[in-house]
Amino acid sequence: MRVAVFSTKPYDRIFLSEANASHGHELVFLDARLTAETVSLAAGFEAVCAFVNDCLNAQVLEQLAASGTRLIALRSAGFNHVDLDAAARLNLTVARVPAYSPHAVAEHAVALILSLNRHTFRAYNRVREGNFSLDGLLGFDLCGKTVGVIGTGKIGLIFAAIMHGFGCKVVAHDPYPSAEAPDYLQYLPLSELFAEADIISLHCPLTPETDHLIDAVAIERMKHGVMLINTGRGRVVDTKAVIDGLKCGRIGALGLDVYEEEEHLFFQDLSAGVISDDQFMRLTTFPNVLITGHQGFFTREALTNIANTTLDNLSAFETGAGTLHRVTR
Ligand code: NAI
Repeated sequence: MRVAVFSTKPYDRIFLSEANASHGHELVFLDARLTAETVSLAAGFEAVCAFVNDCLNAQVLEQLAASGTRLIALRSAGFNHVDLDAAARLNLTVARVPAYSPHAVAEHAVALILSLNRHTFRAYNRVREGNFSLDGLLGFDLCGKTVGVIGTGKIGLIFAAIMHGFGCKVVAHDPYPSAEAPDYLQYLPLSELFAEADIISLHCPLTPETDHLIDAVAIERMKHGVMLINTGRGRVVDTKAVIDGLKCGRIGALGLDVYEEEEHLFFQDLSAGVISDDQFMRLTTFPNVLITGHQGFFTREALTNIANTTLDNLSAFETGAGTLHRVTR
């Protein structure tokens, strides 16, 4: 099958080509992000392979369907960027990679917590400049603190287990509590979780219900000095409200791997240009904010699994045999 692979980075070429060796599809790697402006590049391709910041709204899907595409193979678990109603109407099959390494993302959330708490990113710079002062680097023991996990799916449960291992009390909120939740995990209504947690970590998907779940009202209910971590999806957090929360000290530390306007920034080298997103730039001025550019998934194990499942999806769609991880409304 001919596949147009959008938003390709060098590592995607390597892992997808390796996985394709046993499948034999014709993968055409495109650097461009899929948008209304670039969709014409996919003309005549039966399948389009897309990543998290590709645009798959109704307009783009209509053009894809009109020019012969039948399958959208997502290289991600999240599918909030796909208009599933439009895809169904256009008879486009959407497939995804349901799990590639929940450990990768959970471990990255923990990395953000440890770095923020002990200010290792600031210490690194200081020591390189011969500044061995400890002023401003004071942290706290994680042991004994309460961690609130919002979303106890695959990633949230692994994150909870790691934090439990540090000696933290783990509380959680999820409208669909997990049957696999361990005994030490206590489910609470959201308002109680906000009131109790010293650290809050977001592991829910972006849905209409979670869009700006963390807004000014939610932040007002949190403990003074709370640490907030988002490795889920950017729009779960209202950036403006979070900036206000940081300014007044209600939020004591913020770790982000995702950002609500990230499609204009992340996965690109913009270091020689001017970044015009004032909200994002304001975030980078706080000493207690640590932002990574959507790298939670970025481990060898995860890239191998993403590539293998994506190729399996392509072959299953073409042959009707094997497992197609179809996304339905
Ligand atoms: P999952 O589907 O296993 O778990 C999601 C959980 O969130 C489910 O238990 C669900 O019931 C819960 N949930 C749904 N609505 C909720 C709400 N309103 N409040 C609280 N919980 C709610 O998904 P998984 O694999 O654990 O991934 C979670 C999210 O992590 C993904 O949706 C994606 O947005 C994000 N992600 C981020 C990556 C990164 O590189 N930073 C990579 C992979 C996923």
